[in-house]
Amino acid sequence: PCTGIVIVAAGSGTRLGLGTPKAFVTLAGEPILAHALRSLTGLPGRVAVTIAVPPGDASSRAMAEELAQHELVPLGEKLAATAIVDGGDSRHESVRASLAALPEHCDIVLVHDAARALASPDFFARIAGAVRATRHGIVPGLPVIDTIKQVDATGRVVNTVDREFLRVVQTPQGFPFSQLLAAYRAGEGETTDDAATFAAAGGTVEIVPGEASAFKITGPEDLRQAEELLARQRG
Ligand code: C5P
Repeated sequence: PCTGIVIVAAGSGTRLGLGTPKAFVTLAGEPILAHALRSLTGLPGRVAVTIAVPPGDASSRAMAEELAQHELVPLGEKLAATAIVDGGDSRHESVRASLAALPEHCDIVLVHDAARALASPDFFARIAGAVRATRHGIVPGLPVIDTIKQVDATGRVVNTVDREFLRVVQTPQGFPFSQLLAAYRAGEGETTDDAATFAAAGGTVEIVPGEASAFKITGPEDLRQAEELLARQRG
């Protein structure tokens, strides 16, 4: 088996307000992307990695190349290929460009936000295993703990949604590779996650339990939370 990995790291990260693309902001002394790449070490079989970086940003590209060289060493002989590609204007376009750069013999693909830097290696292995076992799209999700209201354009509440049937979804999201590739080739509309593109092309998507540490680093508060989590893990 060969697991294709797409790490999307092409976002501008304006909400962190540090003037650096988010995946290259420092978290506990290292770029966010360095942490994200460490999640790949527990995958079985061959692994091919594509990283999408901000288009036309030579320094991000150089840093991604260096990180790929250093952080993927633990994969050893299992590392089949690495590629750094220019991302697009949206996450959707970044994923599309990344998928095209993966070797065609990969049987499955996991698509991951670099910004979910602290997802664990076990979590990655679990998602990959579930895709191989079911041949479905596999999406990690957490229960919704807040009450959710649906509103109209004026802000008036029109409905209280039953949260029992809602999930907050994370990455990595896993898919049979050829099916996700076909879905991205066929799909015209933009989606905010890969499972939506896969489902729009007729694929079946299942939710499996998410992981608290796979939260997305978006604002300065998330960066602090990630630093604290790492400090606890490192004792
Ligand atoms: O902006 P947001 O946090 O939703 O982005 C989620 C992930 O998608 C991030 O890892 C970001 O780097 C990536 N992204 C991308 N290309 C874009 C926009 C976001 O690769 N044009």
